[in-house]
Amino acid sequence: MKKTGATFSRRQMLGLLGAGVAASPRLLAQTSSPMPPANTDASRLARDEAFWKEVGSYYDRAEGIINLEHGYWGKMARPVQEQYLAATQMVNKQLSYYARRDYGRDAAESVRRVARALDVEPEEIVLTRNATESIHNLIRQYQRITADDALLYADIDYPSFQQTMQWLADSAGATGVMLKLPPRASQQNILDLYRSAFDEHPNLKLILLTHVSNQHGLVVPVAAITQEARRRGIDVICDSAQSWGLLDFTLPELGVDWAGFNLHKWIGSPVGVGALYMRRGTLEKISPYPGERDPDNTRAATRVHTATSNFAAILAVPAALDFHEALGGANKEARLRYLRGLWTQEADTMPHIEVLGGADEDSWTGMASFRLRDQSSAAEVNALQKRLEQEFGIFTVARYELGSGACIRVTPQVFTTPDELAQLVSALKRLQA
Ligand SMILES: Cc1ncc(COP(=O)(O)O)c(C=O)c1O
Repeated sequence: MKKTGATFSRRQMLGLLGAGVAASPRLLAQTSSPMPPANTDASRLARDEAFWKEVGSYYDRAEGIINLEHGYWGKMARPVQEQYLAATQMVNKQLSYYARRDYGRDAAESVRRVARALDVEPEEIVLTRNATESIHNLIRQYQRITADDALLYADIDYPSFQQTMQWLADSAGATGVMLKLPPRASQQNILDLYRSAFDEHPNLKLILLTHVSNQHGLVVPVAAITQEARRRGIDVICDSAQSWGLLDFTLPELGVDWAGFNLHKWIGSPVGVGALYMRRGTLEKISPYPGERDPDNTRAATRVHTATSNFAAILAVPAALDFHEALGGANKEARLRYLRGLWTQEADTMPHIEVLGGADEDSWTGMASFRLRDQSSAAEVNALQKRLEQEFGIFTVARYELGSGACIRVTPQVFTTPDELAQLVSALKRLQA
């Protein structure tokens, strides 16, 4: 496997910084990244253990626990972490002299890279601290709800966003409708359920769609539902917090007007970087942040007021995207799906285990959930999570918000090994006892 670009050690980078080279850190540190072999398709590469072992060597691993909880945030690859550390030192050294003169230009480059990766215009992207900031602002600043309207969210949506949607309904005297999806669903099931909800509530004005659910990794057919919604004059806010990098896609494929993203999950940036997308021409429906002014509704940046934030994290975005793109979004998605299959295919044959999430391949991601059959209370699932951790040395997380009850979420990362998933399978077999 070849490596691209020159690699500066952290010491070399800091030496440059120490020498007082006043420039953006991206000029100082070039990243290296694993290079997928030429002419290998993603599904074949997904099984190439030598390649993924090499990918794993770019990450610092913790010993002592098998961590299968990578849905919270993503580990930075070492070249990204080095860039971040160098940027932190540079900002801390240069302070306002850098921030007031050069940071705007460097942050604009990060925005440009995000826009390019999502195949939209830089003017349509605003960097935020996280997807929550992006989605909360979209919901709170949505302008069109009246008392005659309804809005729709689902049990698979991120809990805080369900609450914010209901808050919006309540604050306008409108009706908030919660759609309950089955614990396991196919793309067609999900589309049919949304269509029925649209029929049942002809006064729907706004819906929240979650591209990949944080509960069990279910993929929602955002493009198809959005097409249907648009036909009926319903607006769509898309939560892509968990999906970007876990799935390989661009915004034009989804066709949504507004979306929120995280870069600190599957794109592998430092913690504290999210993004807001607002398609040009849609801004009149989402008001500026309270007190901001945008009389022509042309400046997406006025929809957020982030103020002072982590400069170094934003500066490390190009390095994170370099690494992600060198690895290849499609390769990453295929490997993560493959790793999920290593445990779900076995778990599906165990009568005492219920696997949750997608019922067909298009509805699956690398993330999935399970529980002991007929044991869906929070107390039962908490006990299961503890057992996995204490008896088997496997760390997972309990999720509680599905309409069908609680579950254990299992999320491998690109550096997770098949052996670690074999240990999970062996633990699942023994959970019967
Ligand atoms: C689907 C989904 N939406 C929103 C969020 C919130 O992300 P953040 O806390 O980074 O804003 C998460 C985090 O896990 C998520 O999985």
